[in-house]
Amino acid sequence: MNALSTTDSSSPSEISRPTSSPTSSPTLPQTPSPMTSHFLEIDGISKIYPTAKGSYTVLEDVNLTIDEGEFICLIGHSGCGKSTLLNMVAGLNKPTEGQILLKNQRITEPGPDRMVIFQNYSLLPWKTAYENVYLAVEQVYKHRSAQEKKDITLEHLELVGLTEAINKKPSQLSGGMKQRVAIARALATRPEVLIMDEPFGALDPITREEMQEELVNIWETHPSTVLMITHDLDEALFLADRLVMMTNGPSANIGEILEIPFPRPRNRAQVVESPKYRELRNHALDFLFRRFAHDDALE
Ligand SMILES: Nc1ncnc2c1ncn2[C@@H]1O[C@H](COP(=O)(O)OP(=O)(O)OP(=O)(O)O)[C@@H](O)[C@H]1O
Ligand SMILES: [Mg+2]
Repeated sequence: MNALSTTDSSSPSEISRPTSSPTSSPTLPQTPSPMTSHFLEIDGISKIYPTAKGSYTVLEDVNLTIDEGEFICLIGHSGCGKSTLLNMVAGLNKPTEGQILLKNQRITEPGPDRMVIFQNYSLLPWKTAYENVYLAVEQVYKHRSAQEKKDITLEHLELVGLTEAINKKPSQLSGGMKQRVAIARALATRPEVLIMDEPFGALDPITREEMQEELVNIWETHPSTVLMITHDLDEALFLADRLVMMTNGPSANIGEILEIPFPRPRNRAQVVESPKYRELRNHALDFLFRRFAHDDALE
């Protein structure tokens, strides 16, 4: 579907892997410990789909532990199983093997503690921006008064800068505005985990950067744990605390995890100009375009 995107045209053949000792490497090995209790634990997940040609193993033995409040970006070539994995965290899909625990509770179905934002906004087209958010608020805050629910709705539409557009329907909104409604709707329910599947993939580059800034500002003032799929390495390096890089399918799993150490609040210009940014970016490009190159991505 999507080629991995970056903002410059580094050729895979020009990429050199940073030389680093095991102690200075940005890469951390996966060390799941059964003795430690984490906020979110992806524990030995495999997913096998039955197909006309037989069983297809999408994911095999995926392990990841996430702390409360972390911002995780997930990157990997098209078809490797990123959406499959996050849909299991959302409870929209079930693992064939393994389990996912949120605060030690096994995830078996969707719940208001986990909200999902998709690339295509998934707003109800016949409802206004206000009504789209209000519906979600109504479902989660069943016992609140109508006035309280209205206030929560308006507060979150204001948070994403949409106060002027609350009575517009999705067809009257730009792509960026629609995604702002989707973000307001997700945040209004105060989820513990915000799951985003290429949320800015359909936006033009300028709107995309604006949305990244807005998202990170909101996340810093309204903390939640974020799991976000992106095909944009620069987006991931600007937003994430850790970048999870997946190997190619079939039987994909997590190949490497990069720690992204830039202090917050992050200034994009400073981040992009830092030598560490280059190092991390080259390391990720090397992973994606040399070690786990994908035919489609190299076209
Ligand atoms: N219900 C299904 N039955 C069979 N195969 C499936 C099913 N859903 C997904 N797949 C396959 O599983 C693989 C992973 O799909 P998934 O959508 O998770 O990939 P992805 O990494 O999110 O890709 P993209 O970056 O293109 O969104 C693909 O090969 C896809 O064809
Ligand atoms: Mg996907």
